[in-house]
Amino acid sequence: MDLKFTSMEQDIINMLEDFCVNEVKPLAAELDEQERFPTETLEKLSEMGMMGMYIPEKYGGAGLSYNTYTAANEIFNKYCASTACMFEVHGSLVTWPLLTYGTEEQKQKYLPKLASGEMLGAFGLTEPGAGSDSSGQKTNAVDMGEYWLLNGTKCFITNGYYASLYLVFAMTDKDRGNKGISAFLVEKGLKGFTFGTKEKKMGIRGTATYELIFEDVKVPKENILGKPGDGFKIAMSILDGGRISIGAQGVGIAQGALNELIPVIKARKQFGRSIASFQNTQFKVAEMQTEIDAARLLVYRASQLHQEKLSCIKEASMAKYYATKVANDVTRMCLQLAGGIGYTREYPFERFMRDAKITEIYEGTNEIQRIIIAGELGIH
Ligand code: CAA
Repeated sequence: MDLKFTSMEQDIINMLEDFCVNEVKPLAAELDEQERFPTETLEKLSEMGMMGMYIPEKYGGAGLSYNTYTAANEIFNKYCASTACMFEVHGSLVTWPLLTYGTEEQKQKYLPKLASGEMLGAFGLTEPGAGSDSSGQKTNAVDMGEYWLLNGTKCFITNGYYASLYLVFAMTDKDRGNKGISAFLVEKGLKGFTFGTKEKKMGIRGTATYELIFEDVKVPKENILGKPGDGFKIAMSILDGGRISIGAQGVGIAQGALNELIPVIKARKQFGRSIASFQNTQFKVAEMQTEIDAARLLVYRASQLHQEKLSCIKEASMAKYYATKVANDVTRMCLQLAGGIGYTREYPFERFMRDAKITEIYEGTNEIQRIIIAGELGIH
């Protein structure tokens, strides 16, 4: 696949790589250790205009291509998966739906603030009983004439508490099953909207993962996204894009771990020679880079389709499934080749391995991805 970036896009990609080396990588271990949200990086990315990479310039964005955004997701993940998550949820799960399904008024109200970073986005679909089965929404919204009355609880919400705009899914007509779900733009600060537990996680510990609690929250009538009952299809189409970004996350994490490994195996000596000089090591490194490149091709194939606004359901699931499997295989092998030091927190290998695990779970488990791929092949 011949993926070409314009020279301007390539300049942005190079600039983001430099930014990550100088500003993101040095913070990664600290964010992980302290389970701290990367507020300072969010501020810097906002100043750089990068929180609205593919938002058109007329809405205050940078007007870049979707593939450039995919490349940014990969780059962030080479250095810090937590920072990448903050960026990805905002871009794929909130910005894209507003651009795609928002009314002109909603776009004008929210996109400039999302682009400038004044508002950070979060995505509220998951509930305790609606994880893989996202149609089982218990959160409900009742049409009260002048507003929607929202009640319920969401769990595992990335960017929770720090975000100021939440795309929340709720049942508006339970007799209609998944055709009774609607999507709402809910601003932080509305009366009755509070935050519950902050999760303590194995990886991506610099992300803020919160419970959202809605108790008689009055959501303005005009804050429904799309039409009543369209919420499930909107959520599924959003996740097509989200899964491309998680694929890019898998590629980035795997490439980041391998890049860190190479100097270590060149420098470290056993039996009088460098670890890198053993053919077993060379075979493993060659296999890992080949797998990463194969995953990257799947990710950019899906990204290209998404950029062209073509259907990418199967391709996005394949990219997510394969790239995140590669991320787990590669990070485990990198730690193994690094040996004892790989198991210490002096080196980033154990963090890469812990961060990789969630990619097989969120935005649709890899079991769900295989169900989707089989379904797209006509096997139900
Ligand atoms: N785009 C548009 N429409 C779609 C679609 C898509 N990608 N996928 C399905 N639909 C439509 C179908 O065409 C169907 O429409 P009709 O009824 O008109 O024919 C309708 O939606 C229902 O589709 P299904 O029958 O396939 O629905 P289902 O109930 O069997 O569920 C599922 C399918 C694949 C299991 C789905 O529920 C799913 O993807 N589950 C995983 C949920 C998930 O990914 N959650 C992630 C949470 S967010 C997150 O993780 C964020 C974070 O932390 C960072």
